[in-house]
Amino acid sequence: MENTIKKIKNNLQEIMKYGSPVYLYDEDILIDRTKQMKQFKENIENELNGILVNIHYSPKANNNPKILKIVTEEGLYVDCMSPLELSINRKCGFKNEEILYVCNNIDKEEMKLIHDSNILICLDSISQVETWGKLYPNTDIMIRINPGTTGVGHDEKVITSGKETKFGVCEQNIPELLNTVKKYDLNLIGIHQHLGSLFLDDKIDEYMDGVKSGLRIVKKYFKNIKIIDLGGGFGVPYKESEKPLNLDLLASKLKVELKQFADEYLSIKEFKFEIGRFIPCEAGILMGNVNAIKCENDTYWIGTDIGMNELVRPSMYDSYHEITLLEPRNTQIIEANICGNICESGDIIGKNRTLNLPSVGDIILVHNAGAYGYSMASNYTGRPRPAEIMLYDNSTKLIRKRDTIESMEENIVW
Ligand SMILES: Cc1ncc(COP(=O)(O)O)c(C=O)c1O
Repeated sequence: MENTIKKIKNNLQEIMKYGSPVYLYDEDILIDRTKQMKQFKENIENELNGILVNIHYSPKANNNPKILKIVTEEGLYVDCMSPLELSINRKCGFKNEEILYVCNNIDKEEMKLIHDSNILICLDSISQVETWGKLYPNTDIMIRINPGTTGVGHDEKVITSGKETKFGVCEQNIPELLNTVKKYDLNLIGIHQHLGSLFLDDKIDEYMDGVKSGLRIVKKYFKNIKIIDLGGGFGVPYKESEKPLNLDLLASKLKVELKQFADEYLSIKEFKFEIGRFIPCEAGILMGNVNAIKCENDTYWIGTDIGMNELVRPSMYDSYHEITLLEPRNTQIIEANICGNICESGDIIGKNRTLNLPSVGDIILVHNAGAYGYSMASNYTGRPRPAEIMLYDNSTKLIRKRDTIESMEENIVW
């Protein structure tokens, strides 16, 4: 993080030209995390006697083309969940066979786009298999199952296994799923599962329970599956007290299970993972300004221009992001709530934070904002989404423009 702050300081005048707030991404960290994923892939692949391991970066975490270009240069693949993500993936040079379309509850028009684009689809309910099968019998598909275990995730809204989730086909419905697949002569080539978003070392065992459950289900119900996709969820530390995910430990546990599975299930050709947050999260900082400071009812409130429209995670999931001042000037230490400029009580980016008393005009940094930051940003209350900037040692590059009143008004029919 120190290096990223140094880059911000080196380039401050230039960054400020792009307006405030602004998303900043440290390219060195993006490259490092992508390489770590490549190593993880190779580590497992080396153990599997010719069975492929592929990592598909999930642009739902951050779909900026400059990030996707780093991913493709390092030889990773990509997934997509919407026509826009598909279009961006293709413009970034991913080949059809490097793209997996993971969707839920889509309409026939979107199915047509996927079919006509020759992209492998992963469907996530019997109802969607029925719709696809009627339109495109005798085609290749993947299906998302719900392995039924407790799942993993930083908030109940992002846990996607077990009884409470909208995703996938649960074990008891697999016989009906197989009938539907047969009815339309579909080639079910792959099984997918995703247990939720963000686990660290303390949840590796829960993650592995989900993996074992998924592999057991494949063995019990499905024949001739070629691809098993184990989804994403690889976490990063948001708090100082948290440690990075031990990828070697995770790989060593996966190798045992996947090898044993492959020894018994001979049609398997490939394991996939769909990693989102891990690649861009720690590279991103959301930089903003302090606009107001007040103390009401014995509580300090630091009012910034970073609203829930720019970063929704704290108000949506109660997520923790480290928040610091770029250059603390006042030595007085206070405890404060740090909030944005949106007219909502929930528009708070950090509660009960200890920091140097800021002054109006100070620059404030929200750390670990590279994943599910810009990609979840909105124009709520008419605020523009920020610019995105790539950070280098002594220069910057604009990689997405800030919204303007004109761009935000573009689709209004007056
Ligand atoms: C189907 C699917 N795959 C992959 C991901 C990426 O997850 P993460 O960013 O936690 O790695 C998600 C996000 O929740 C997802 O829904």
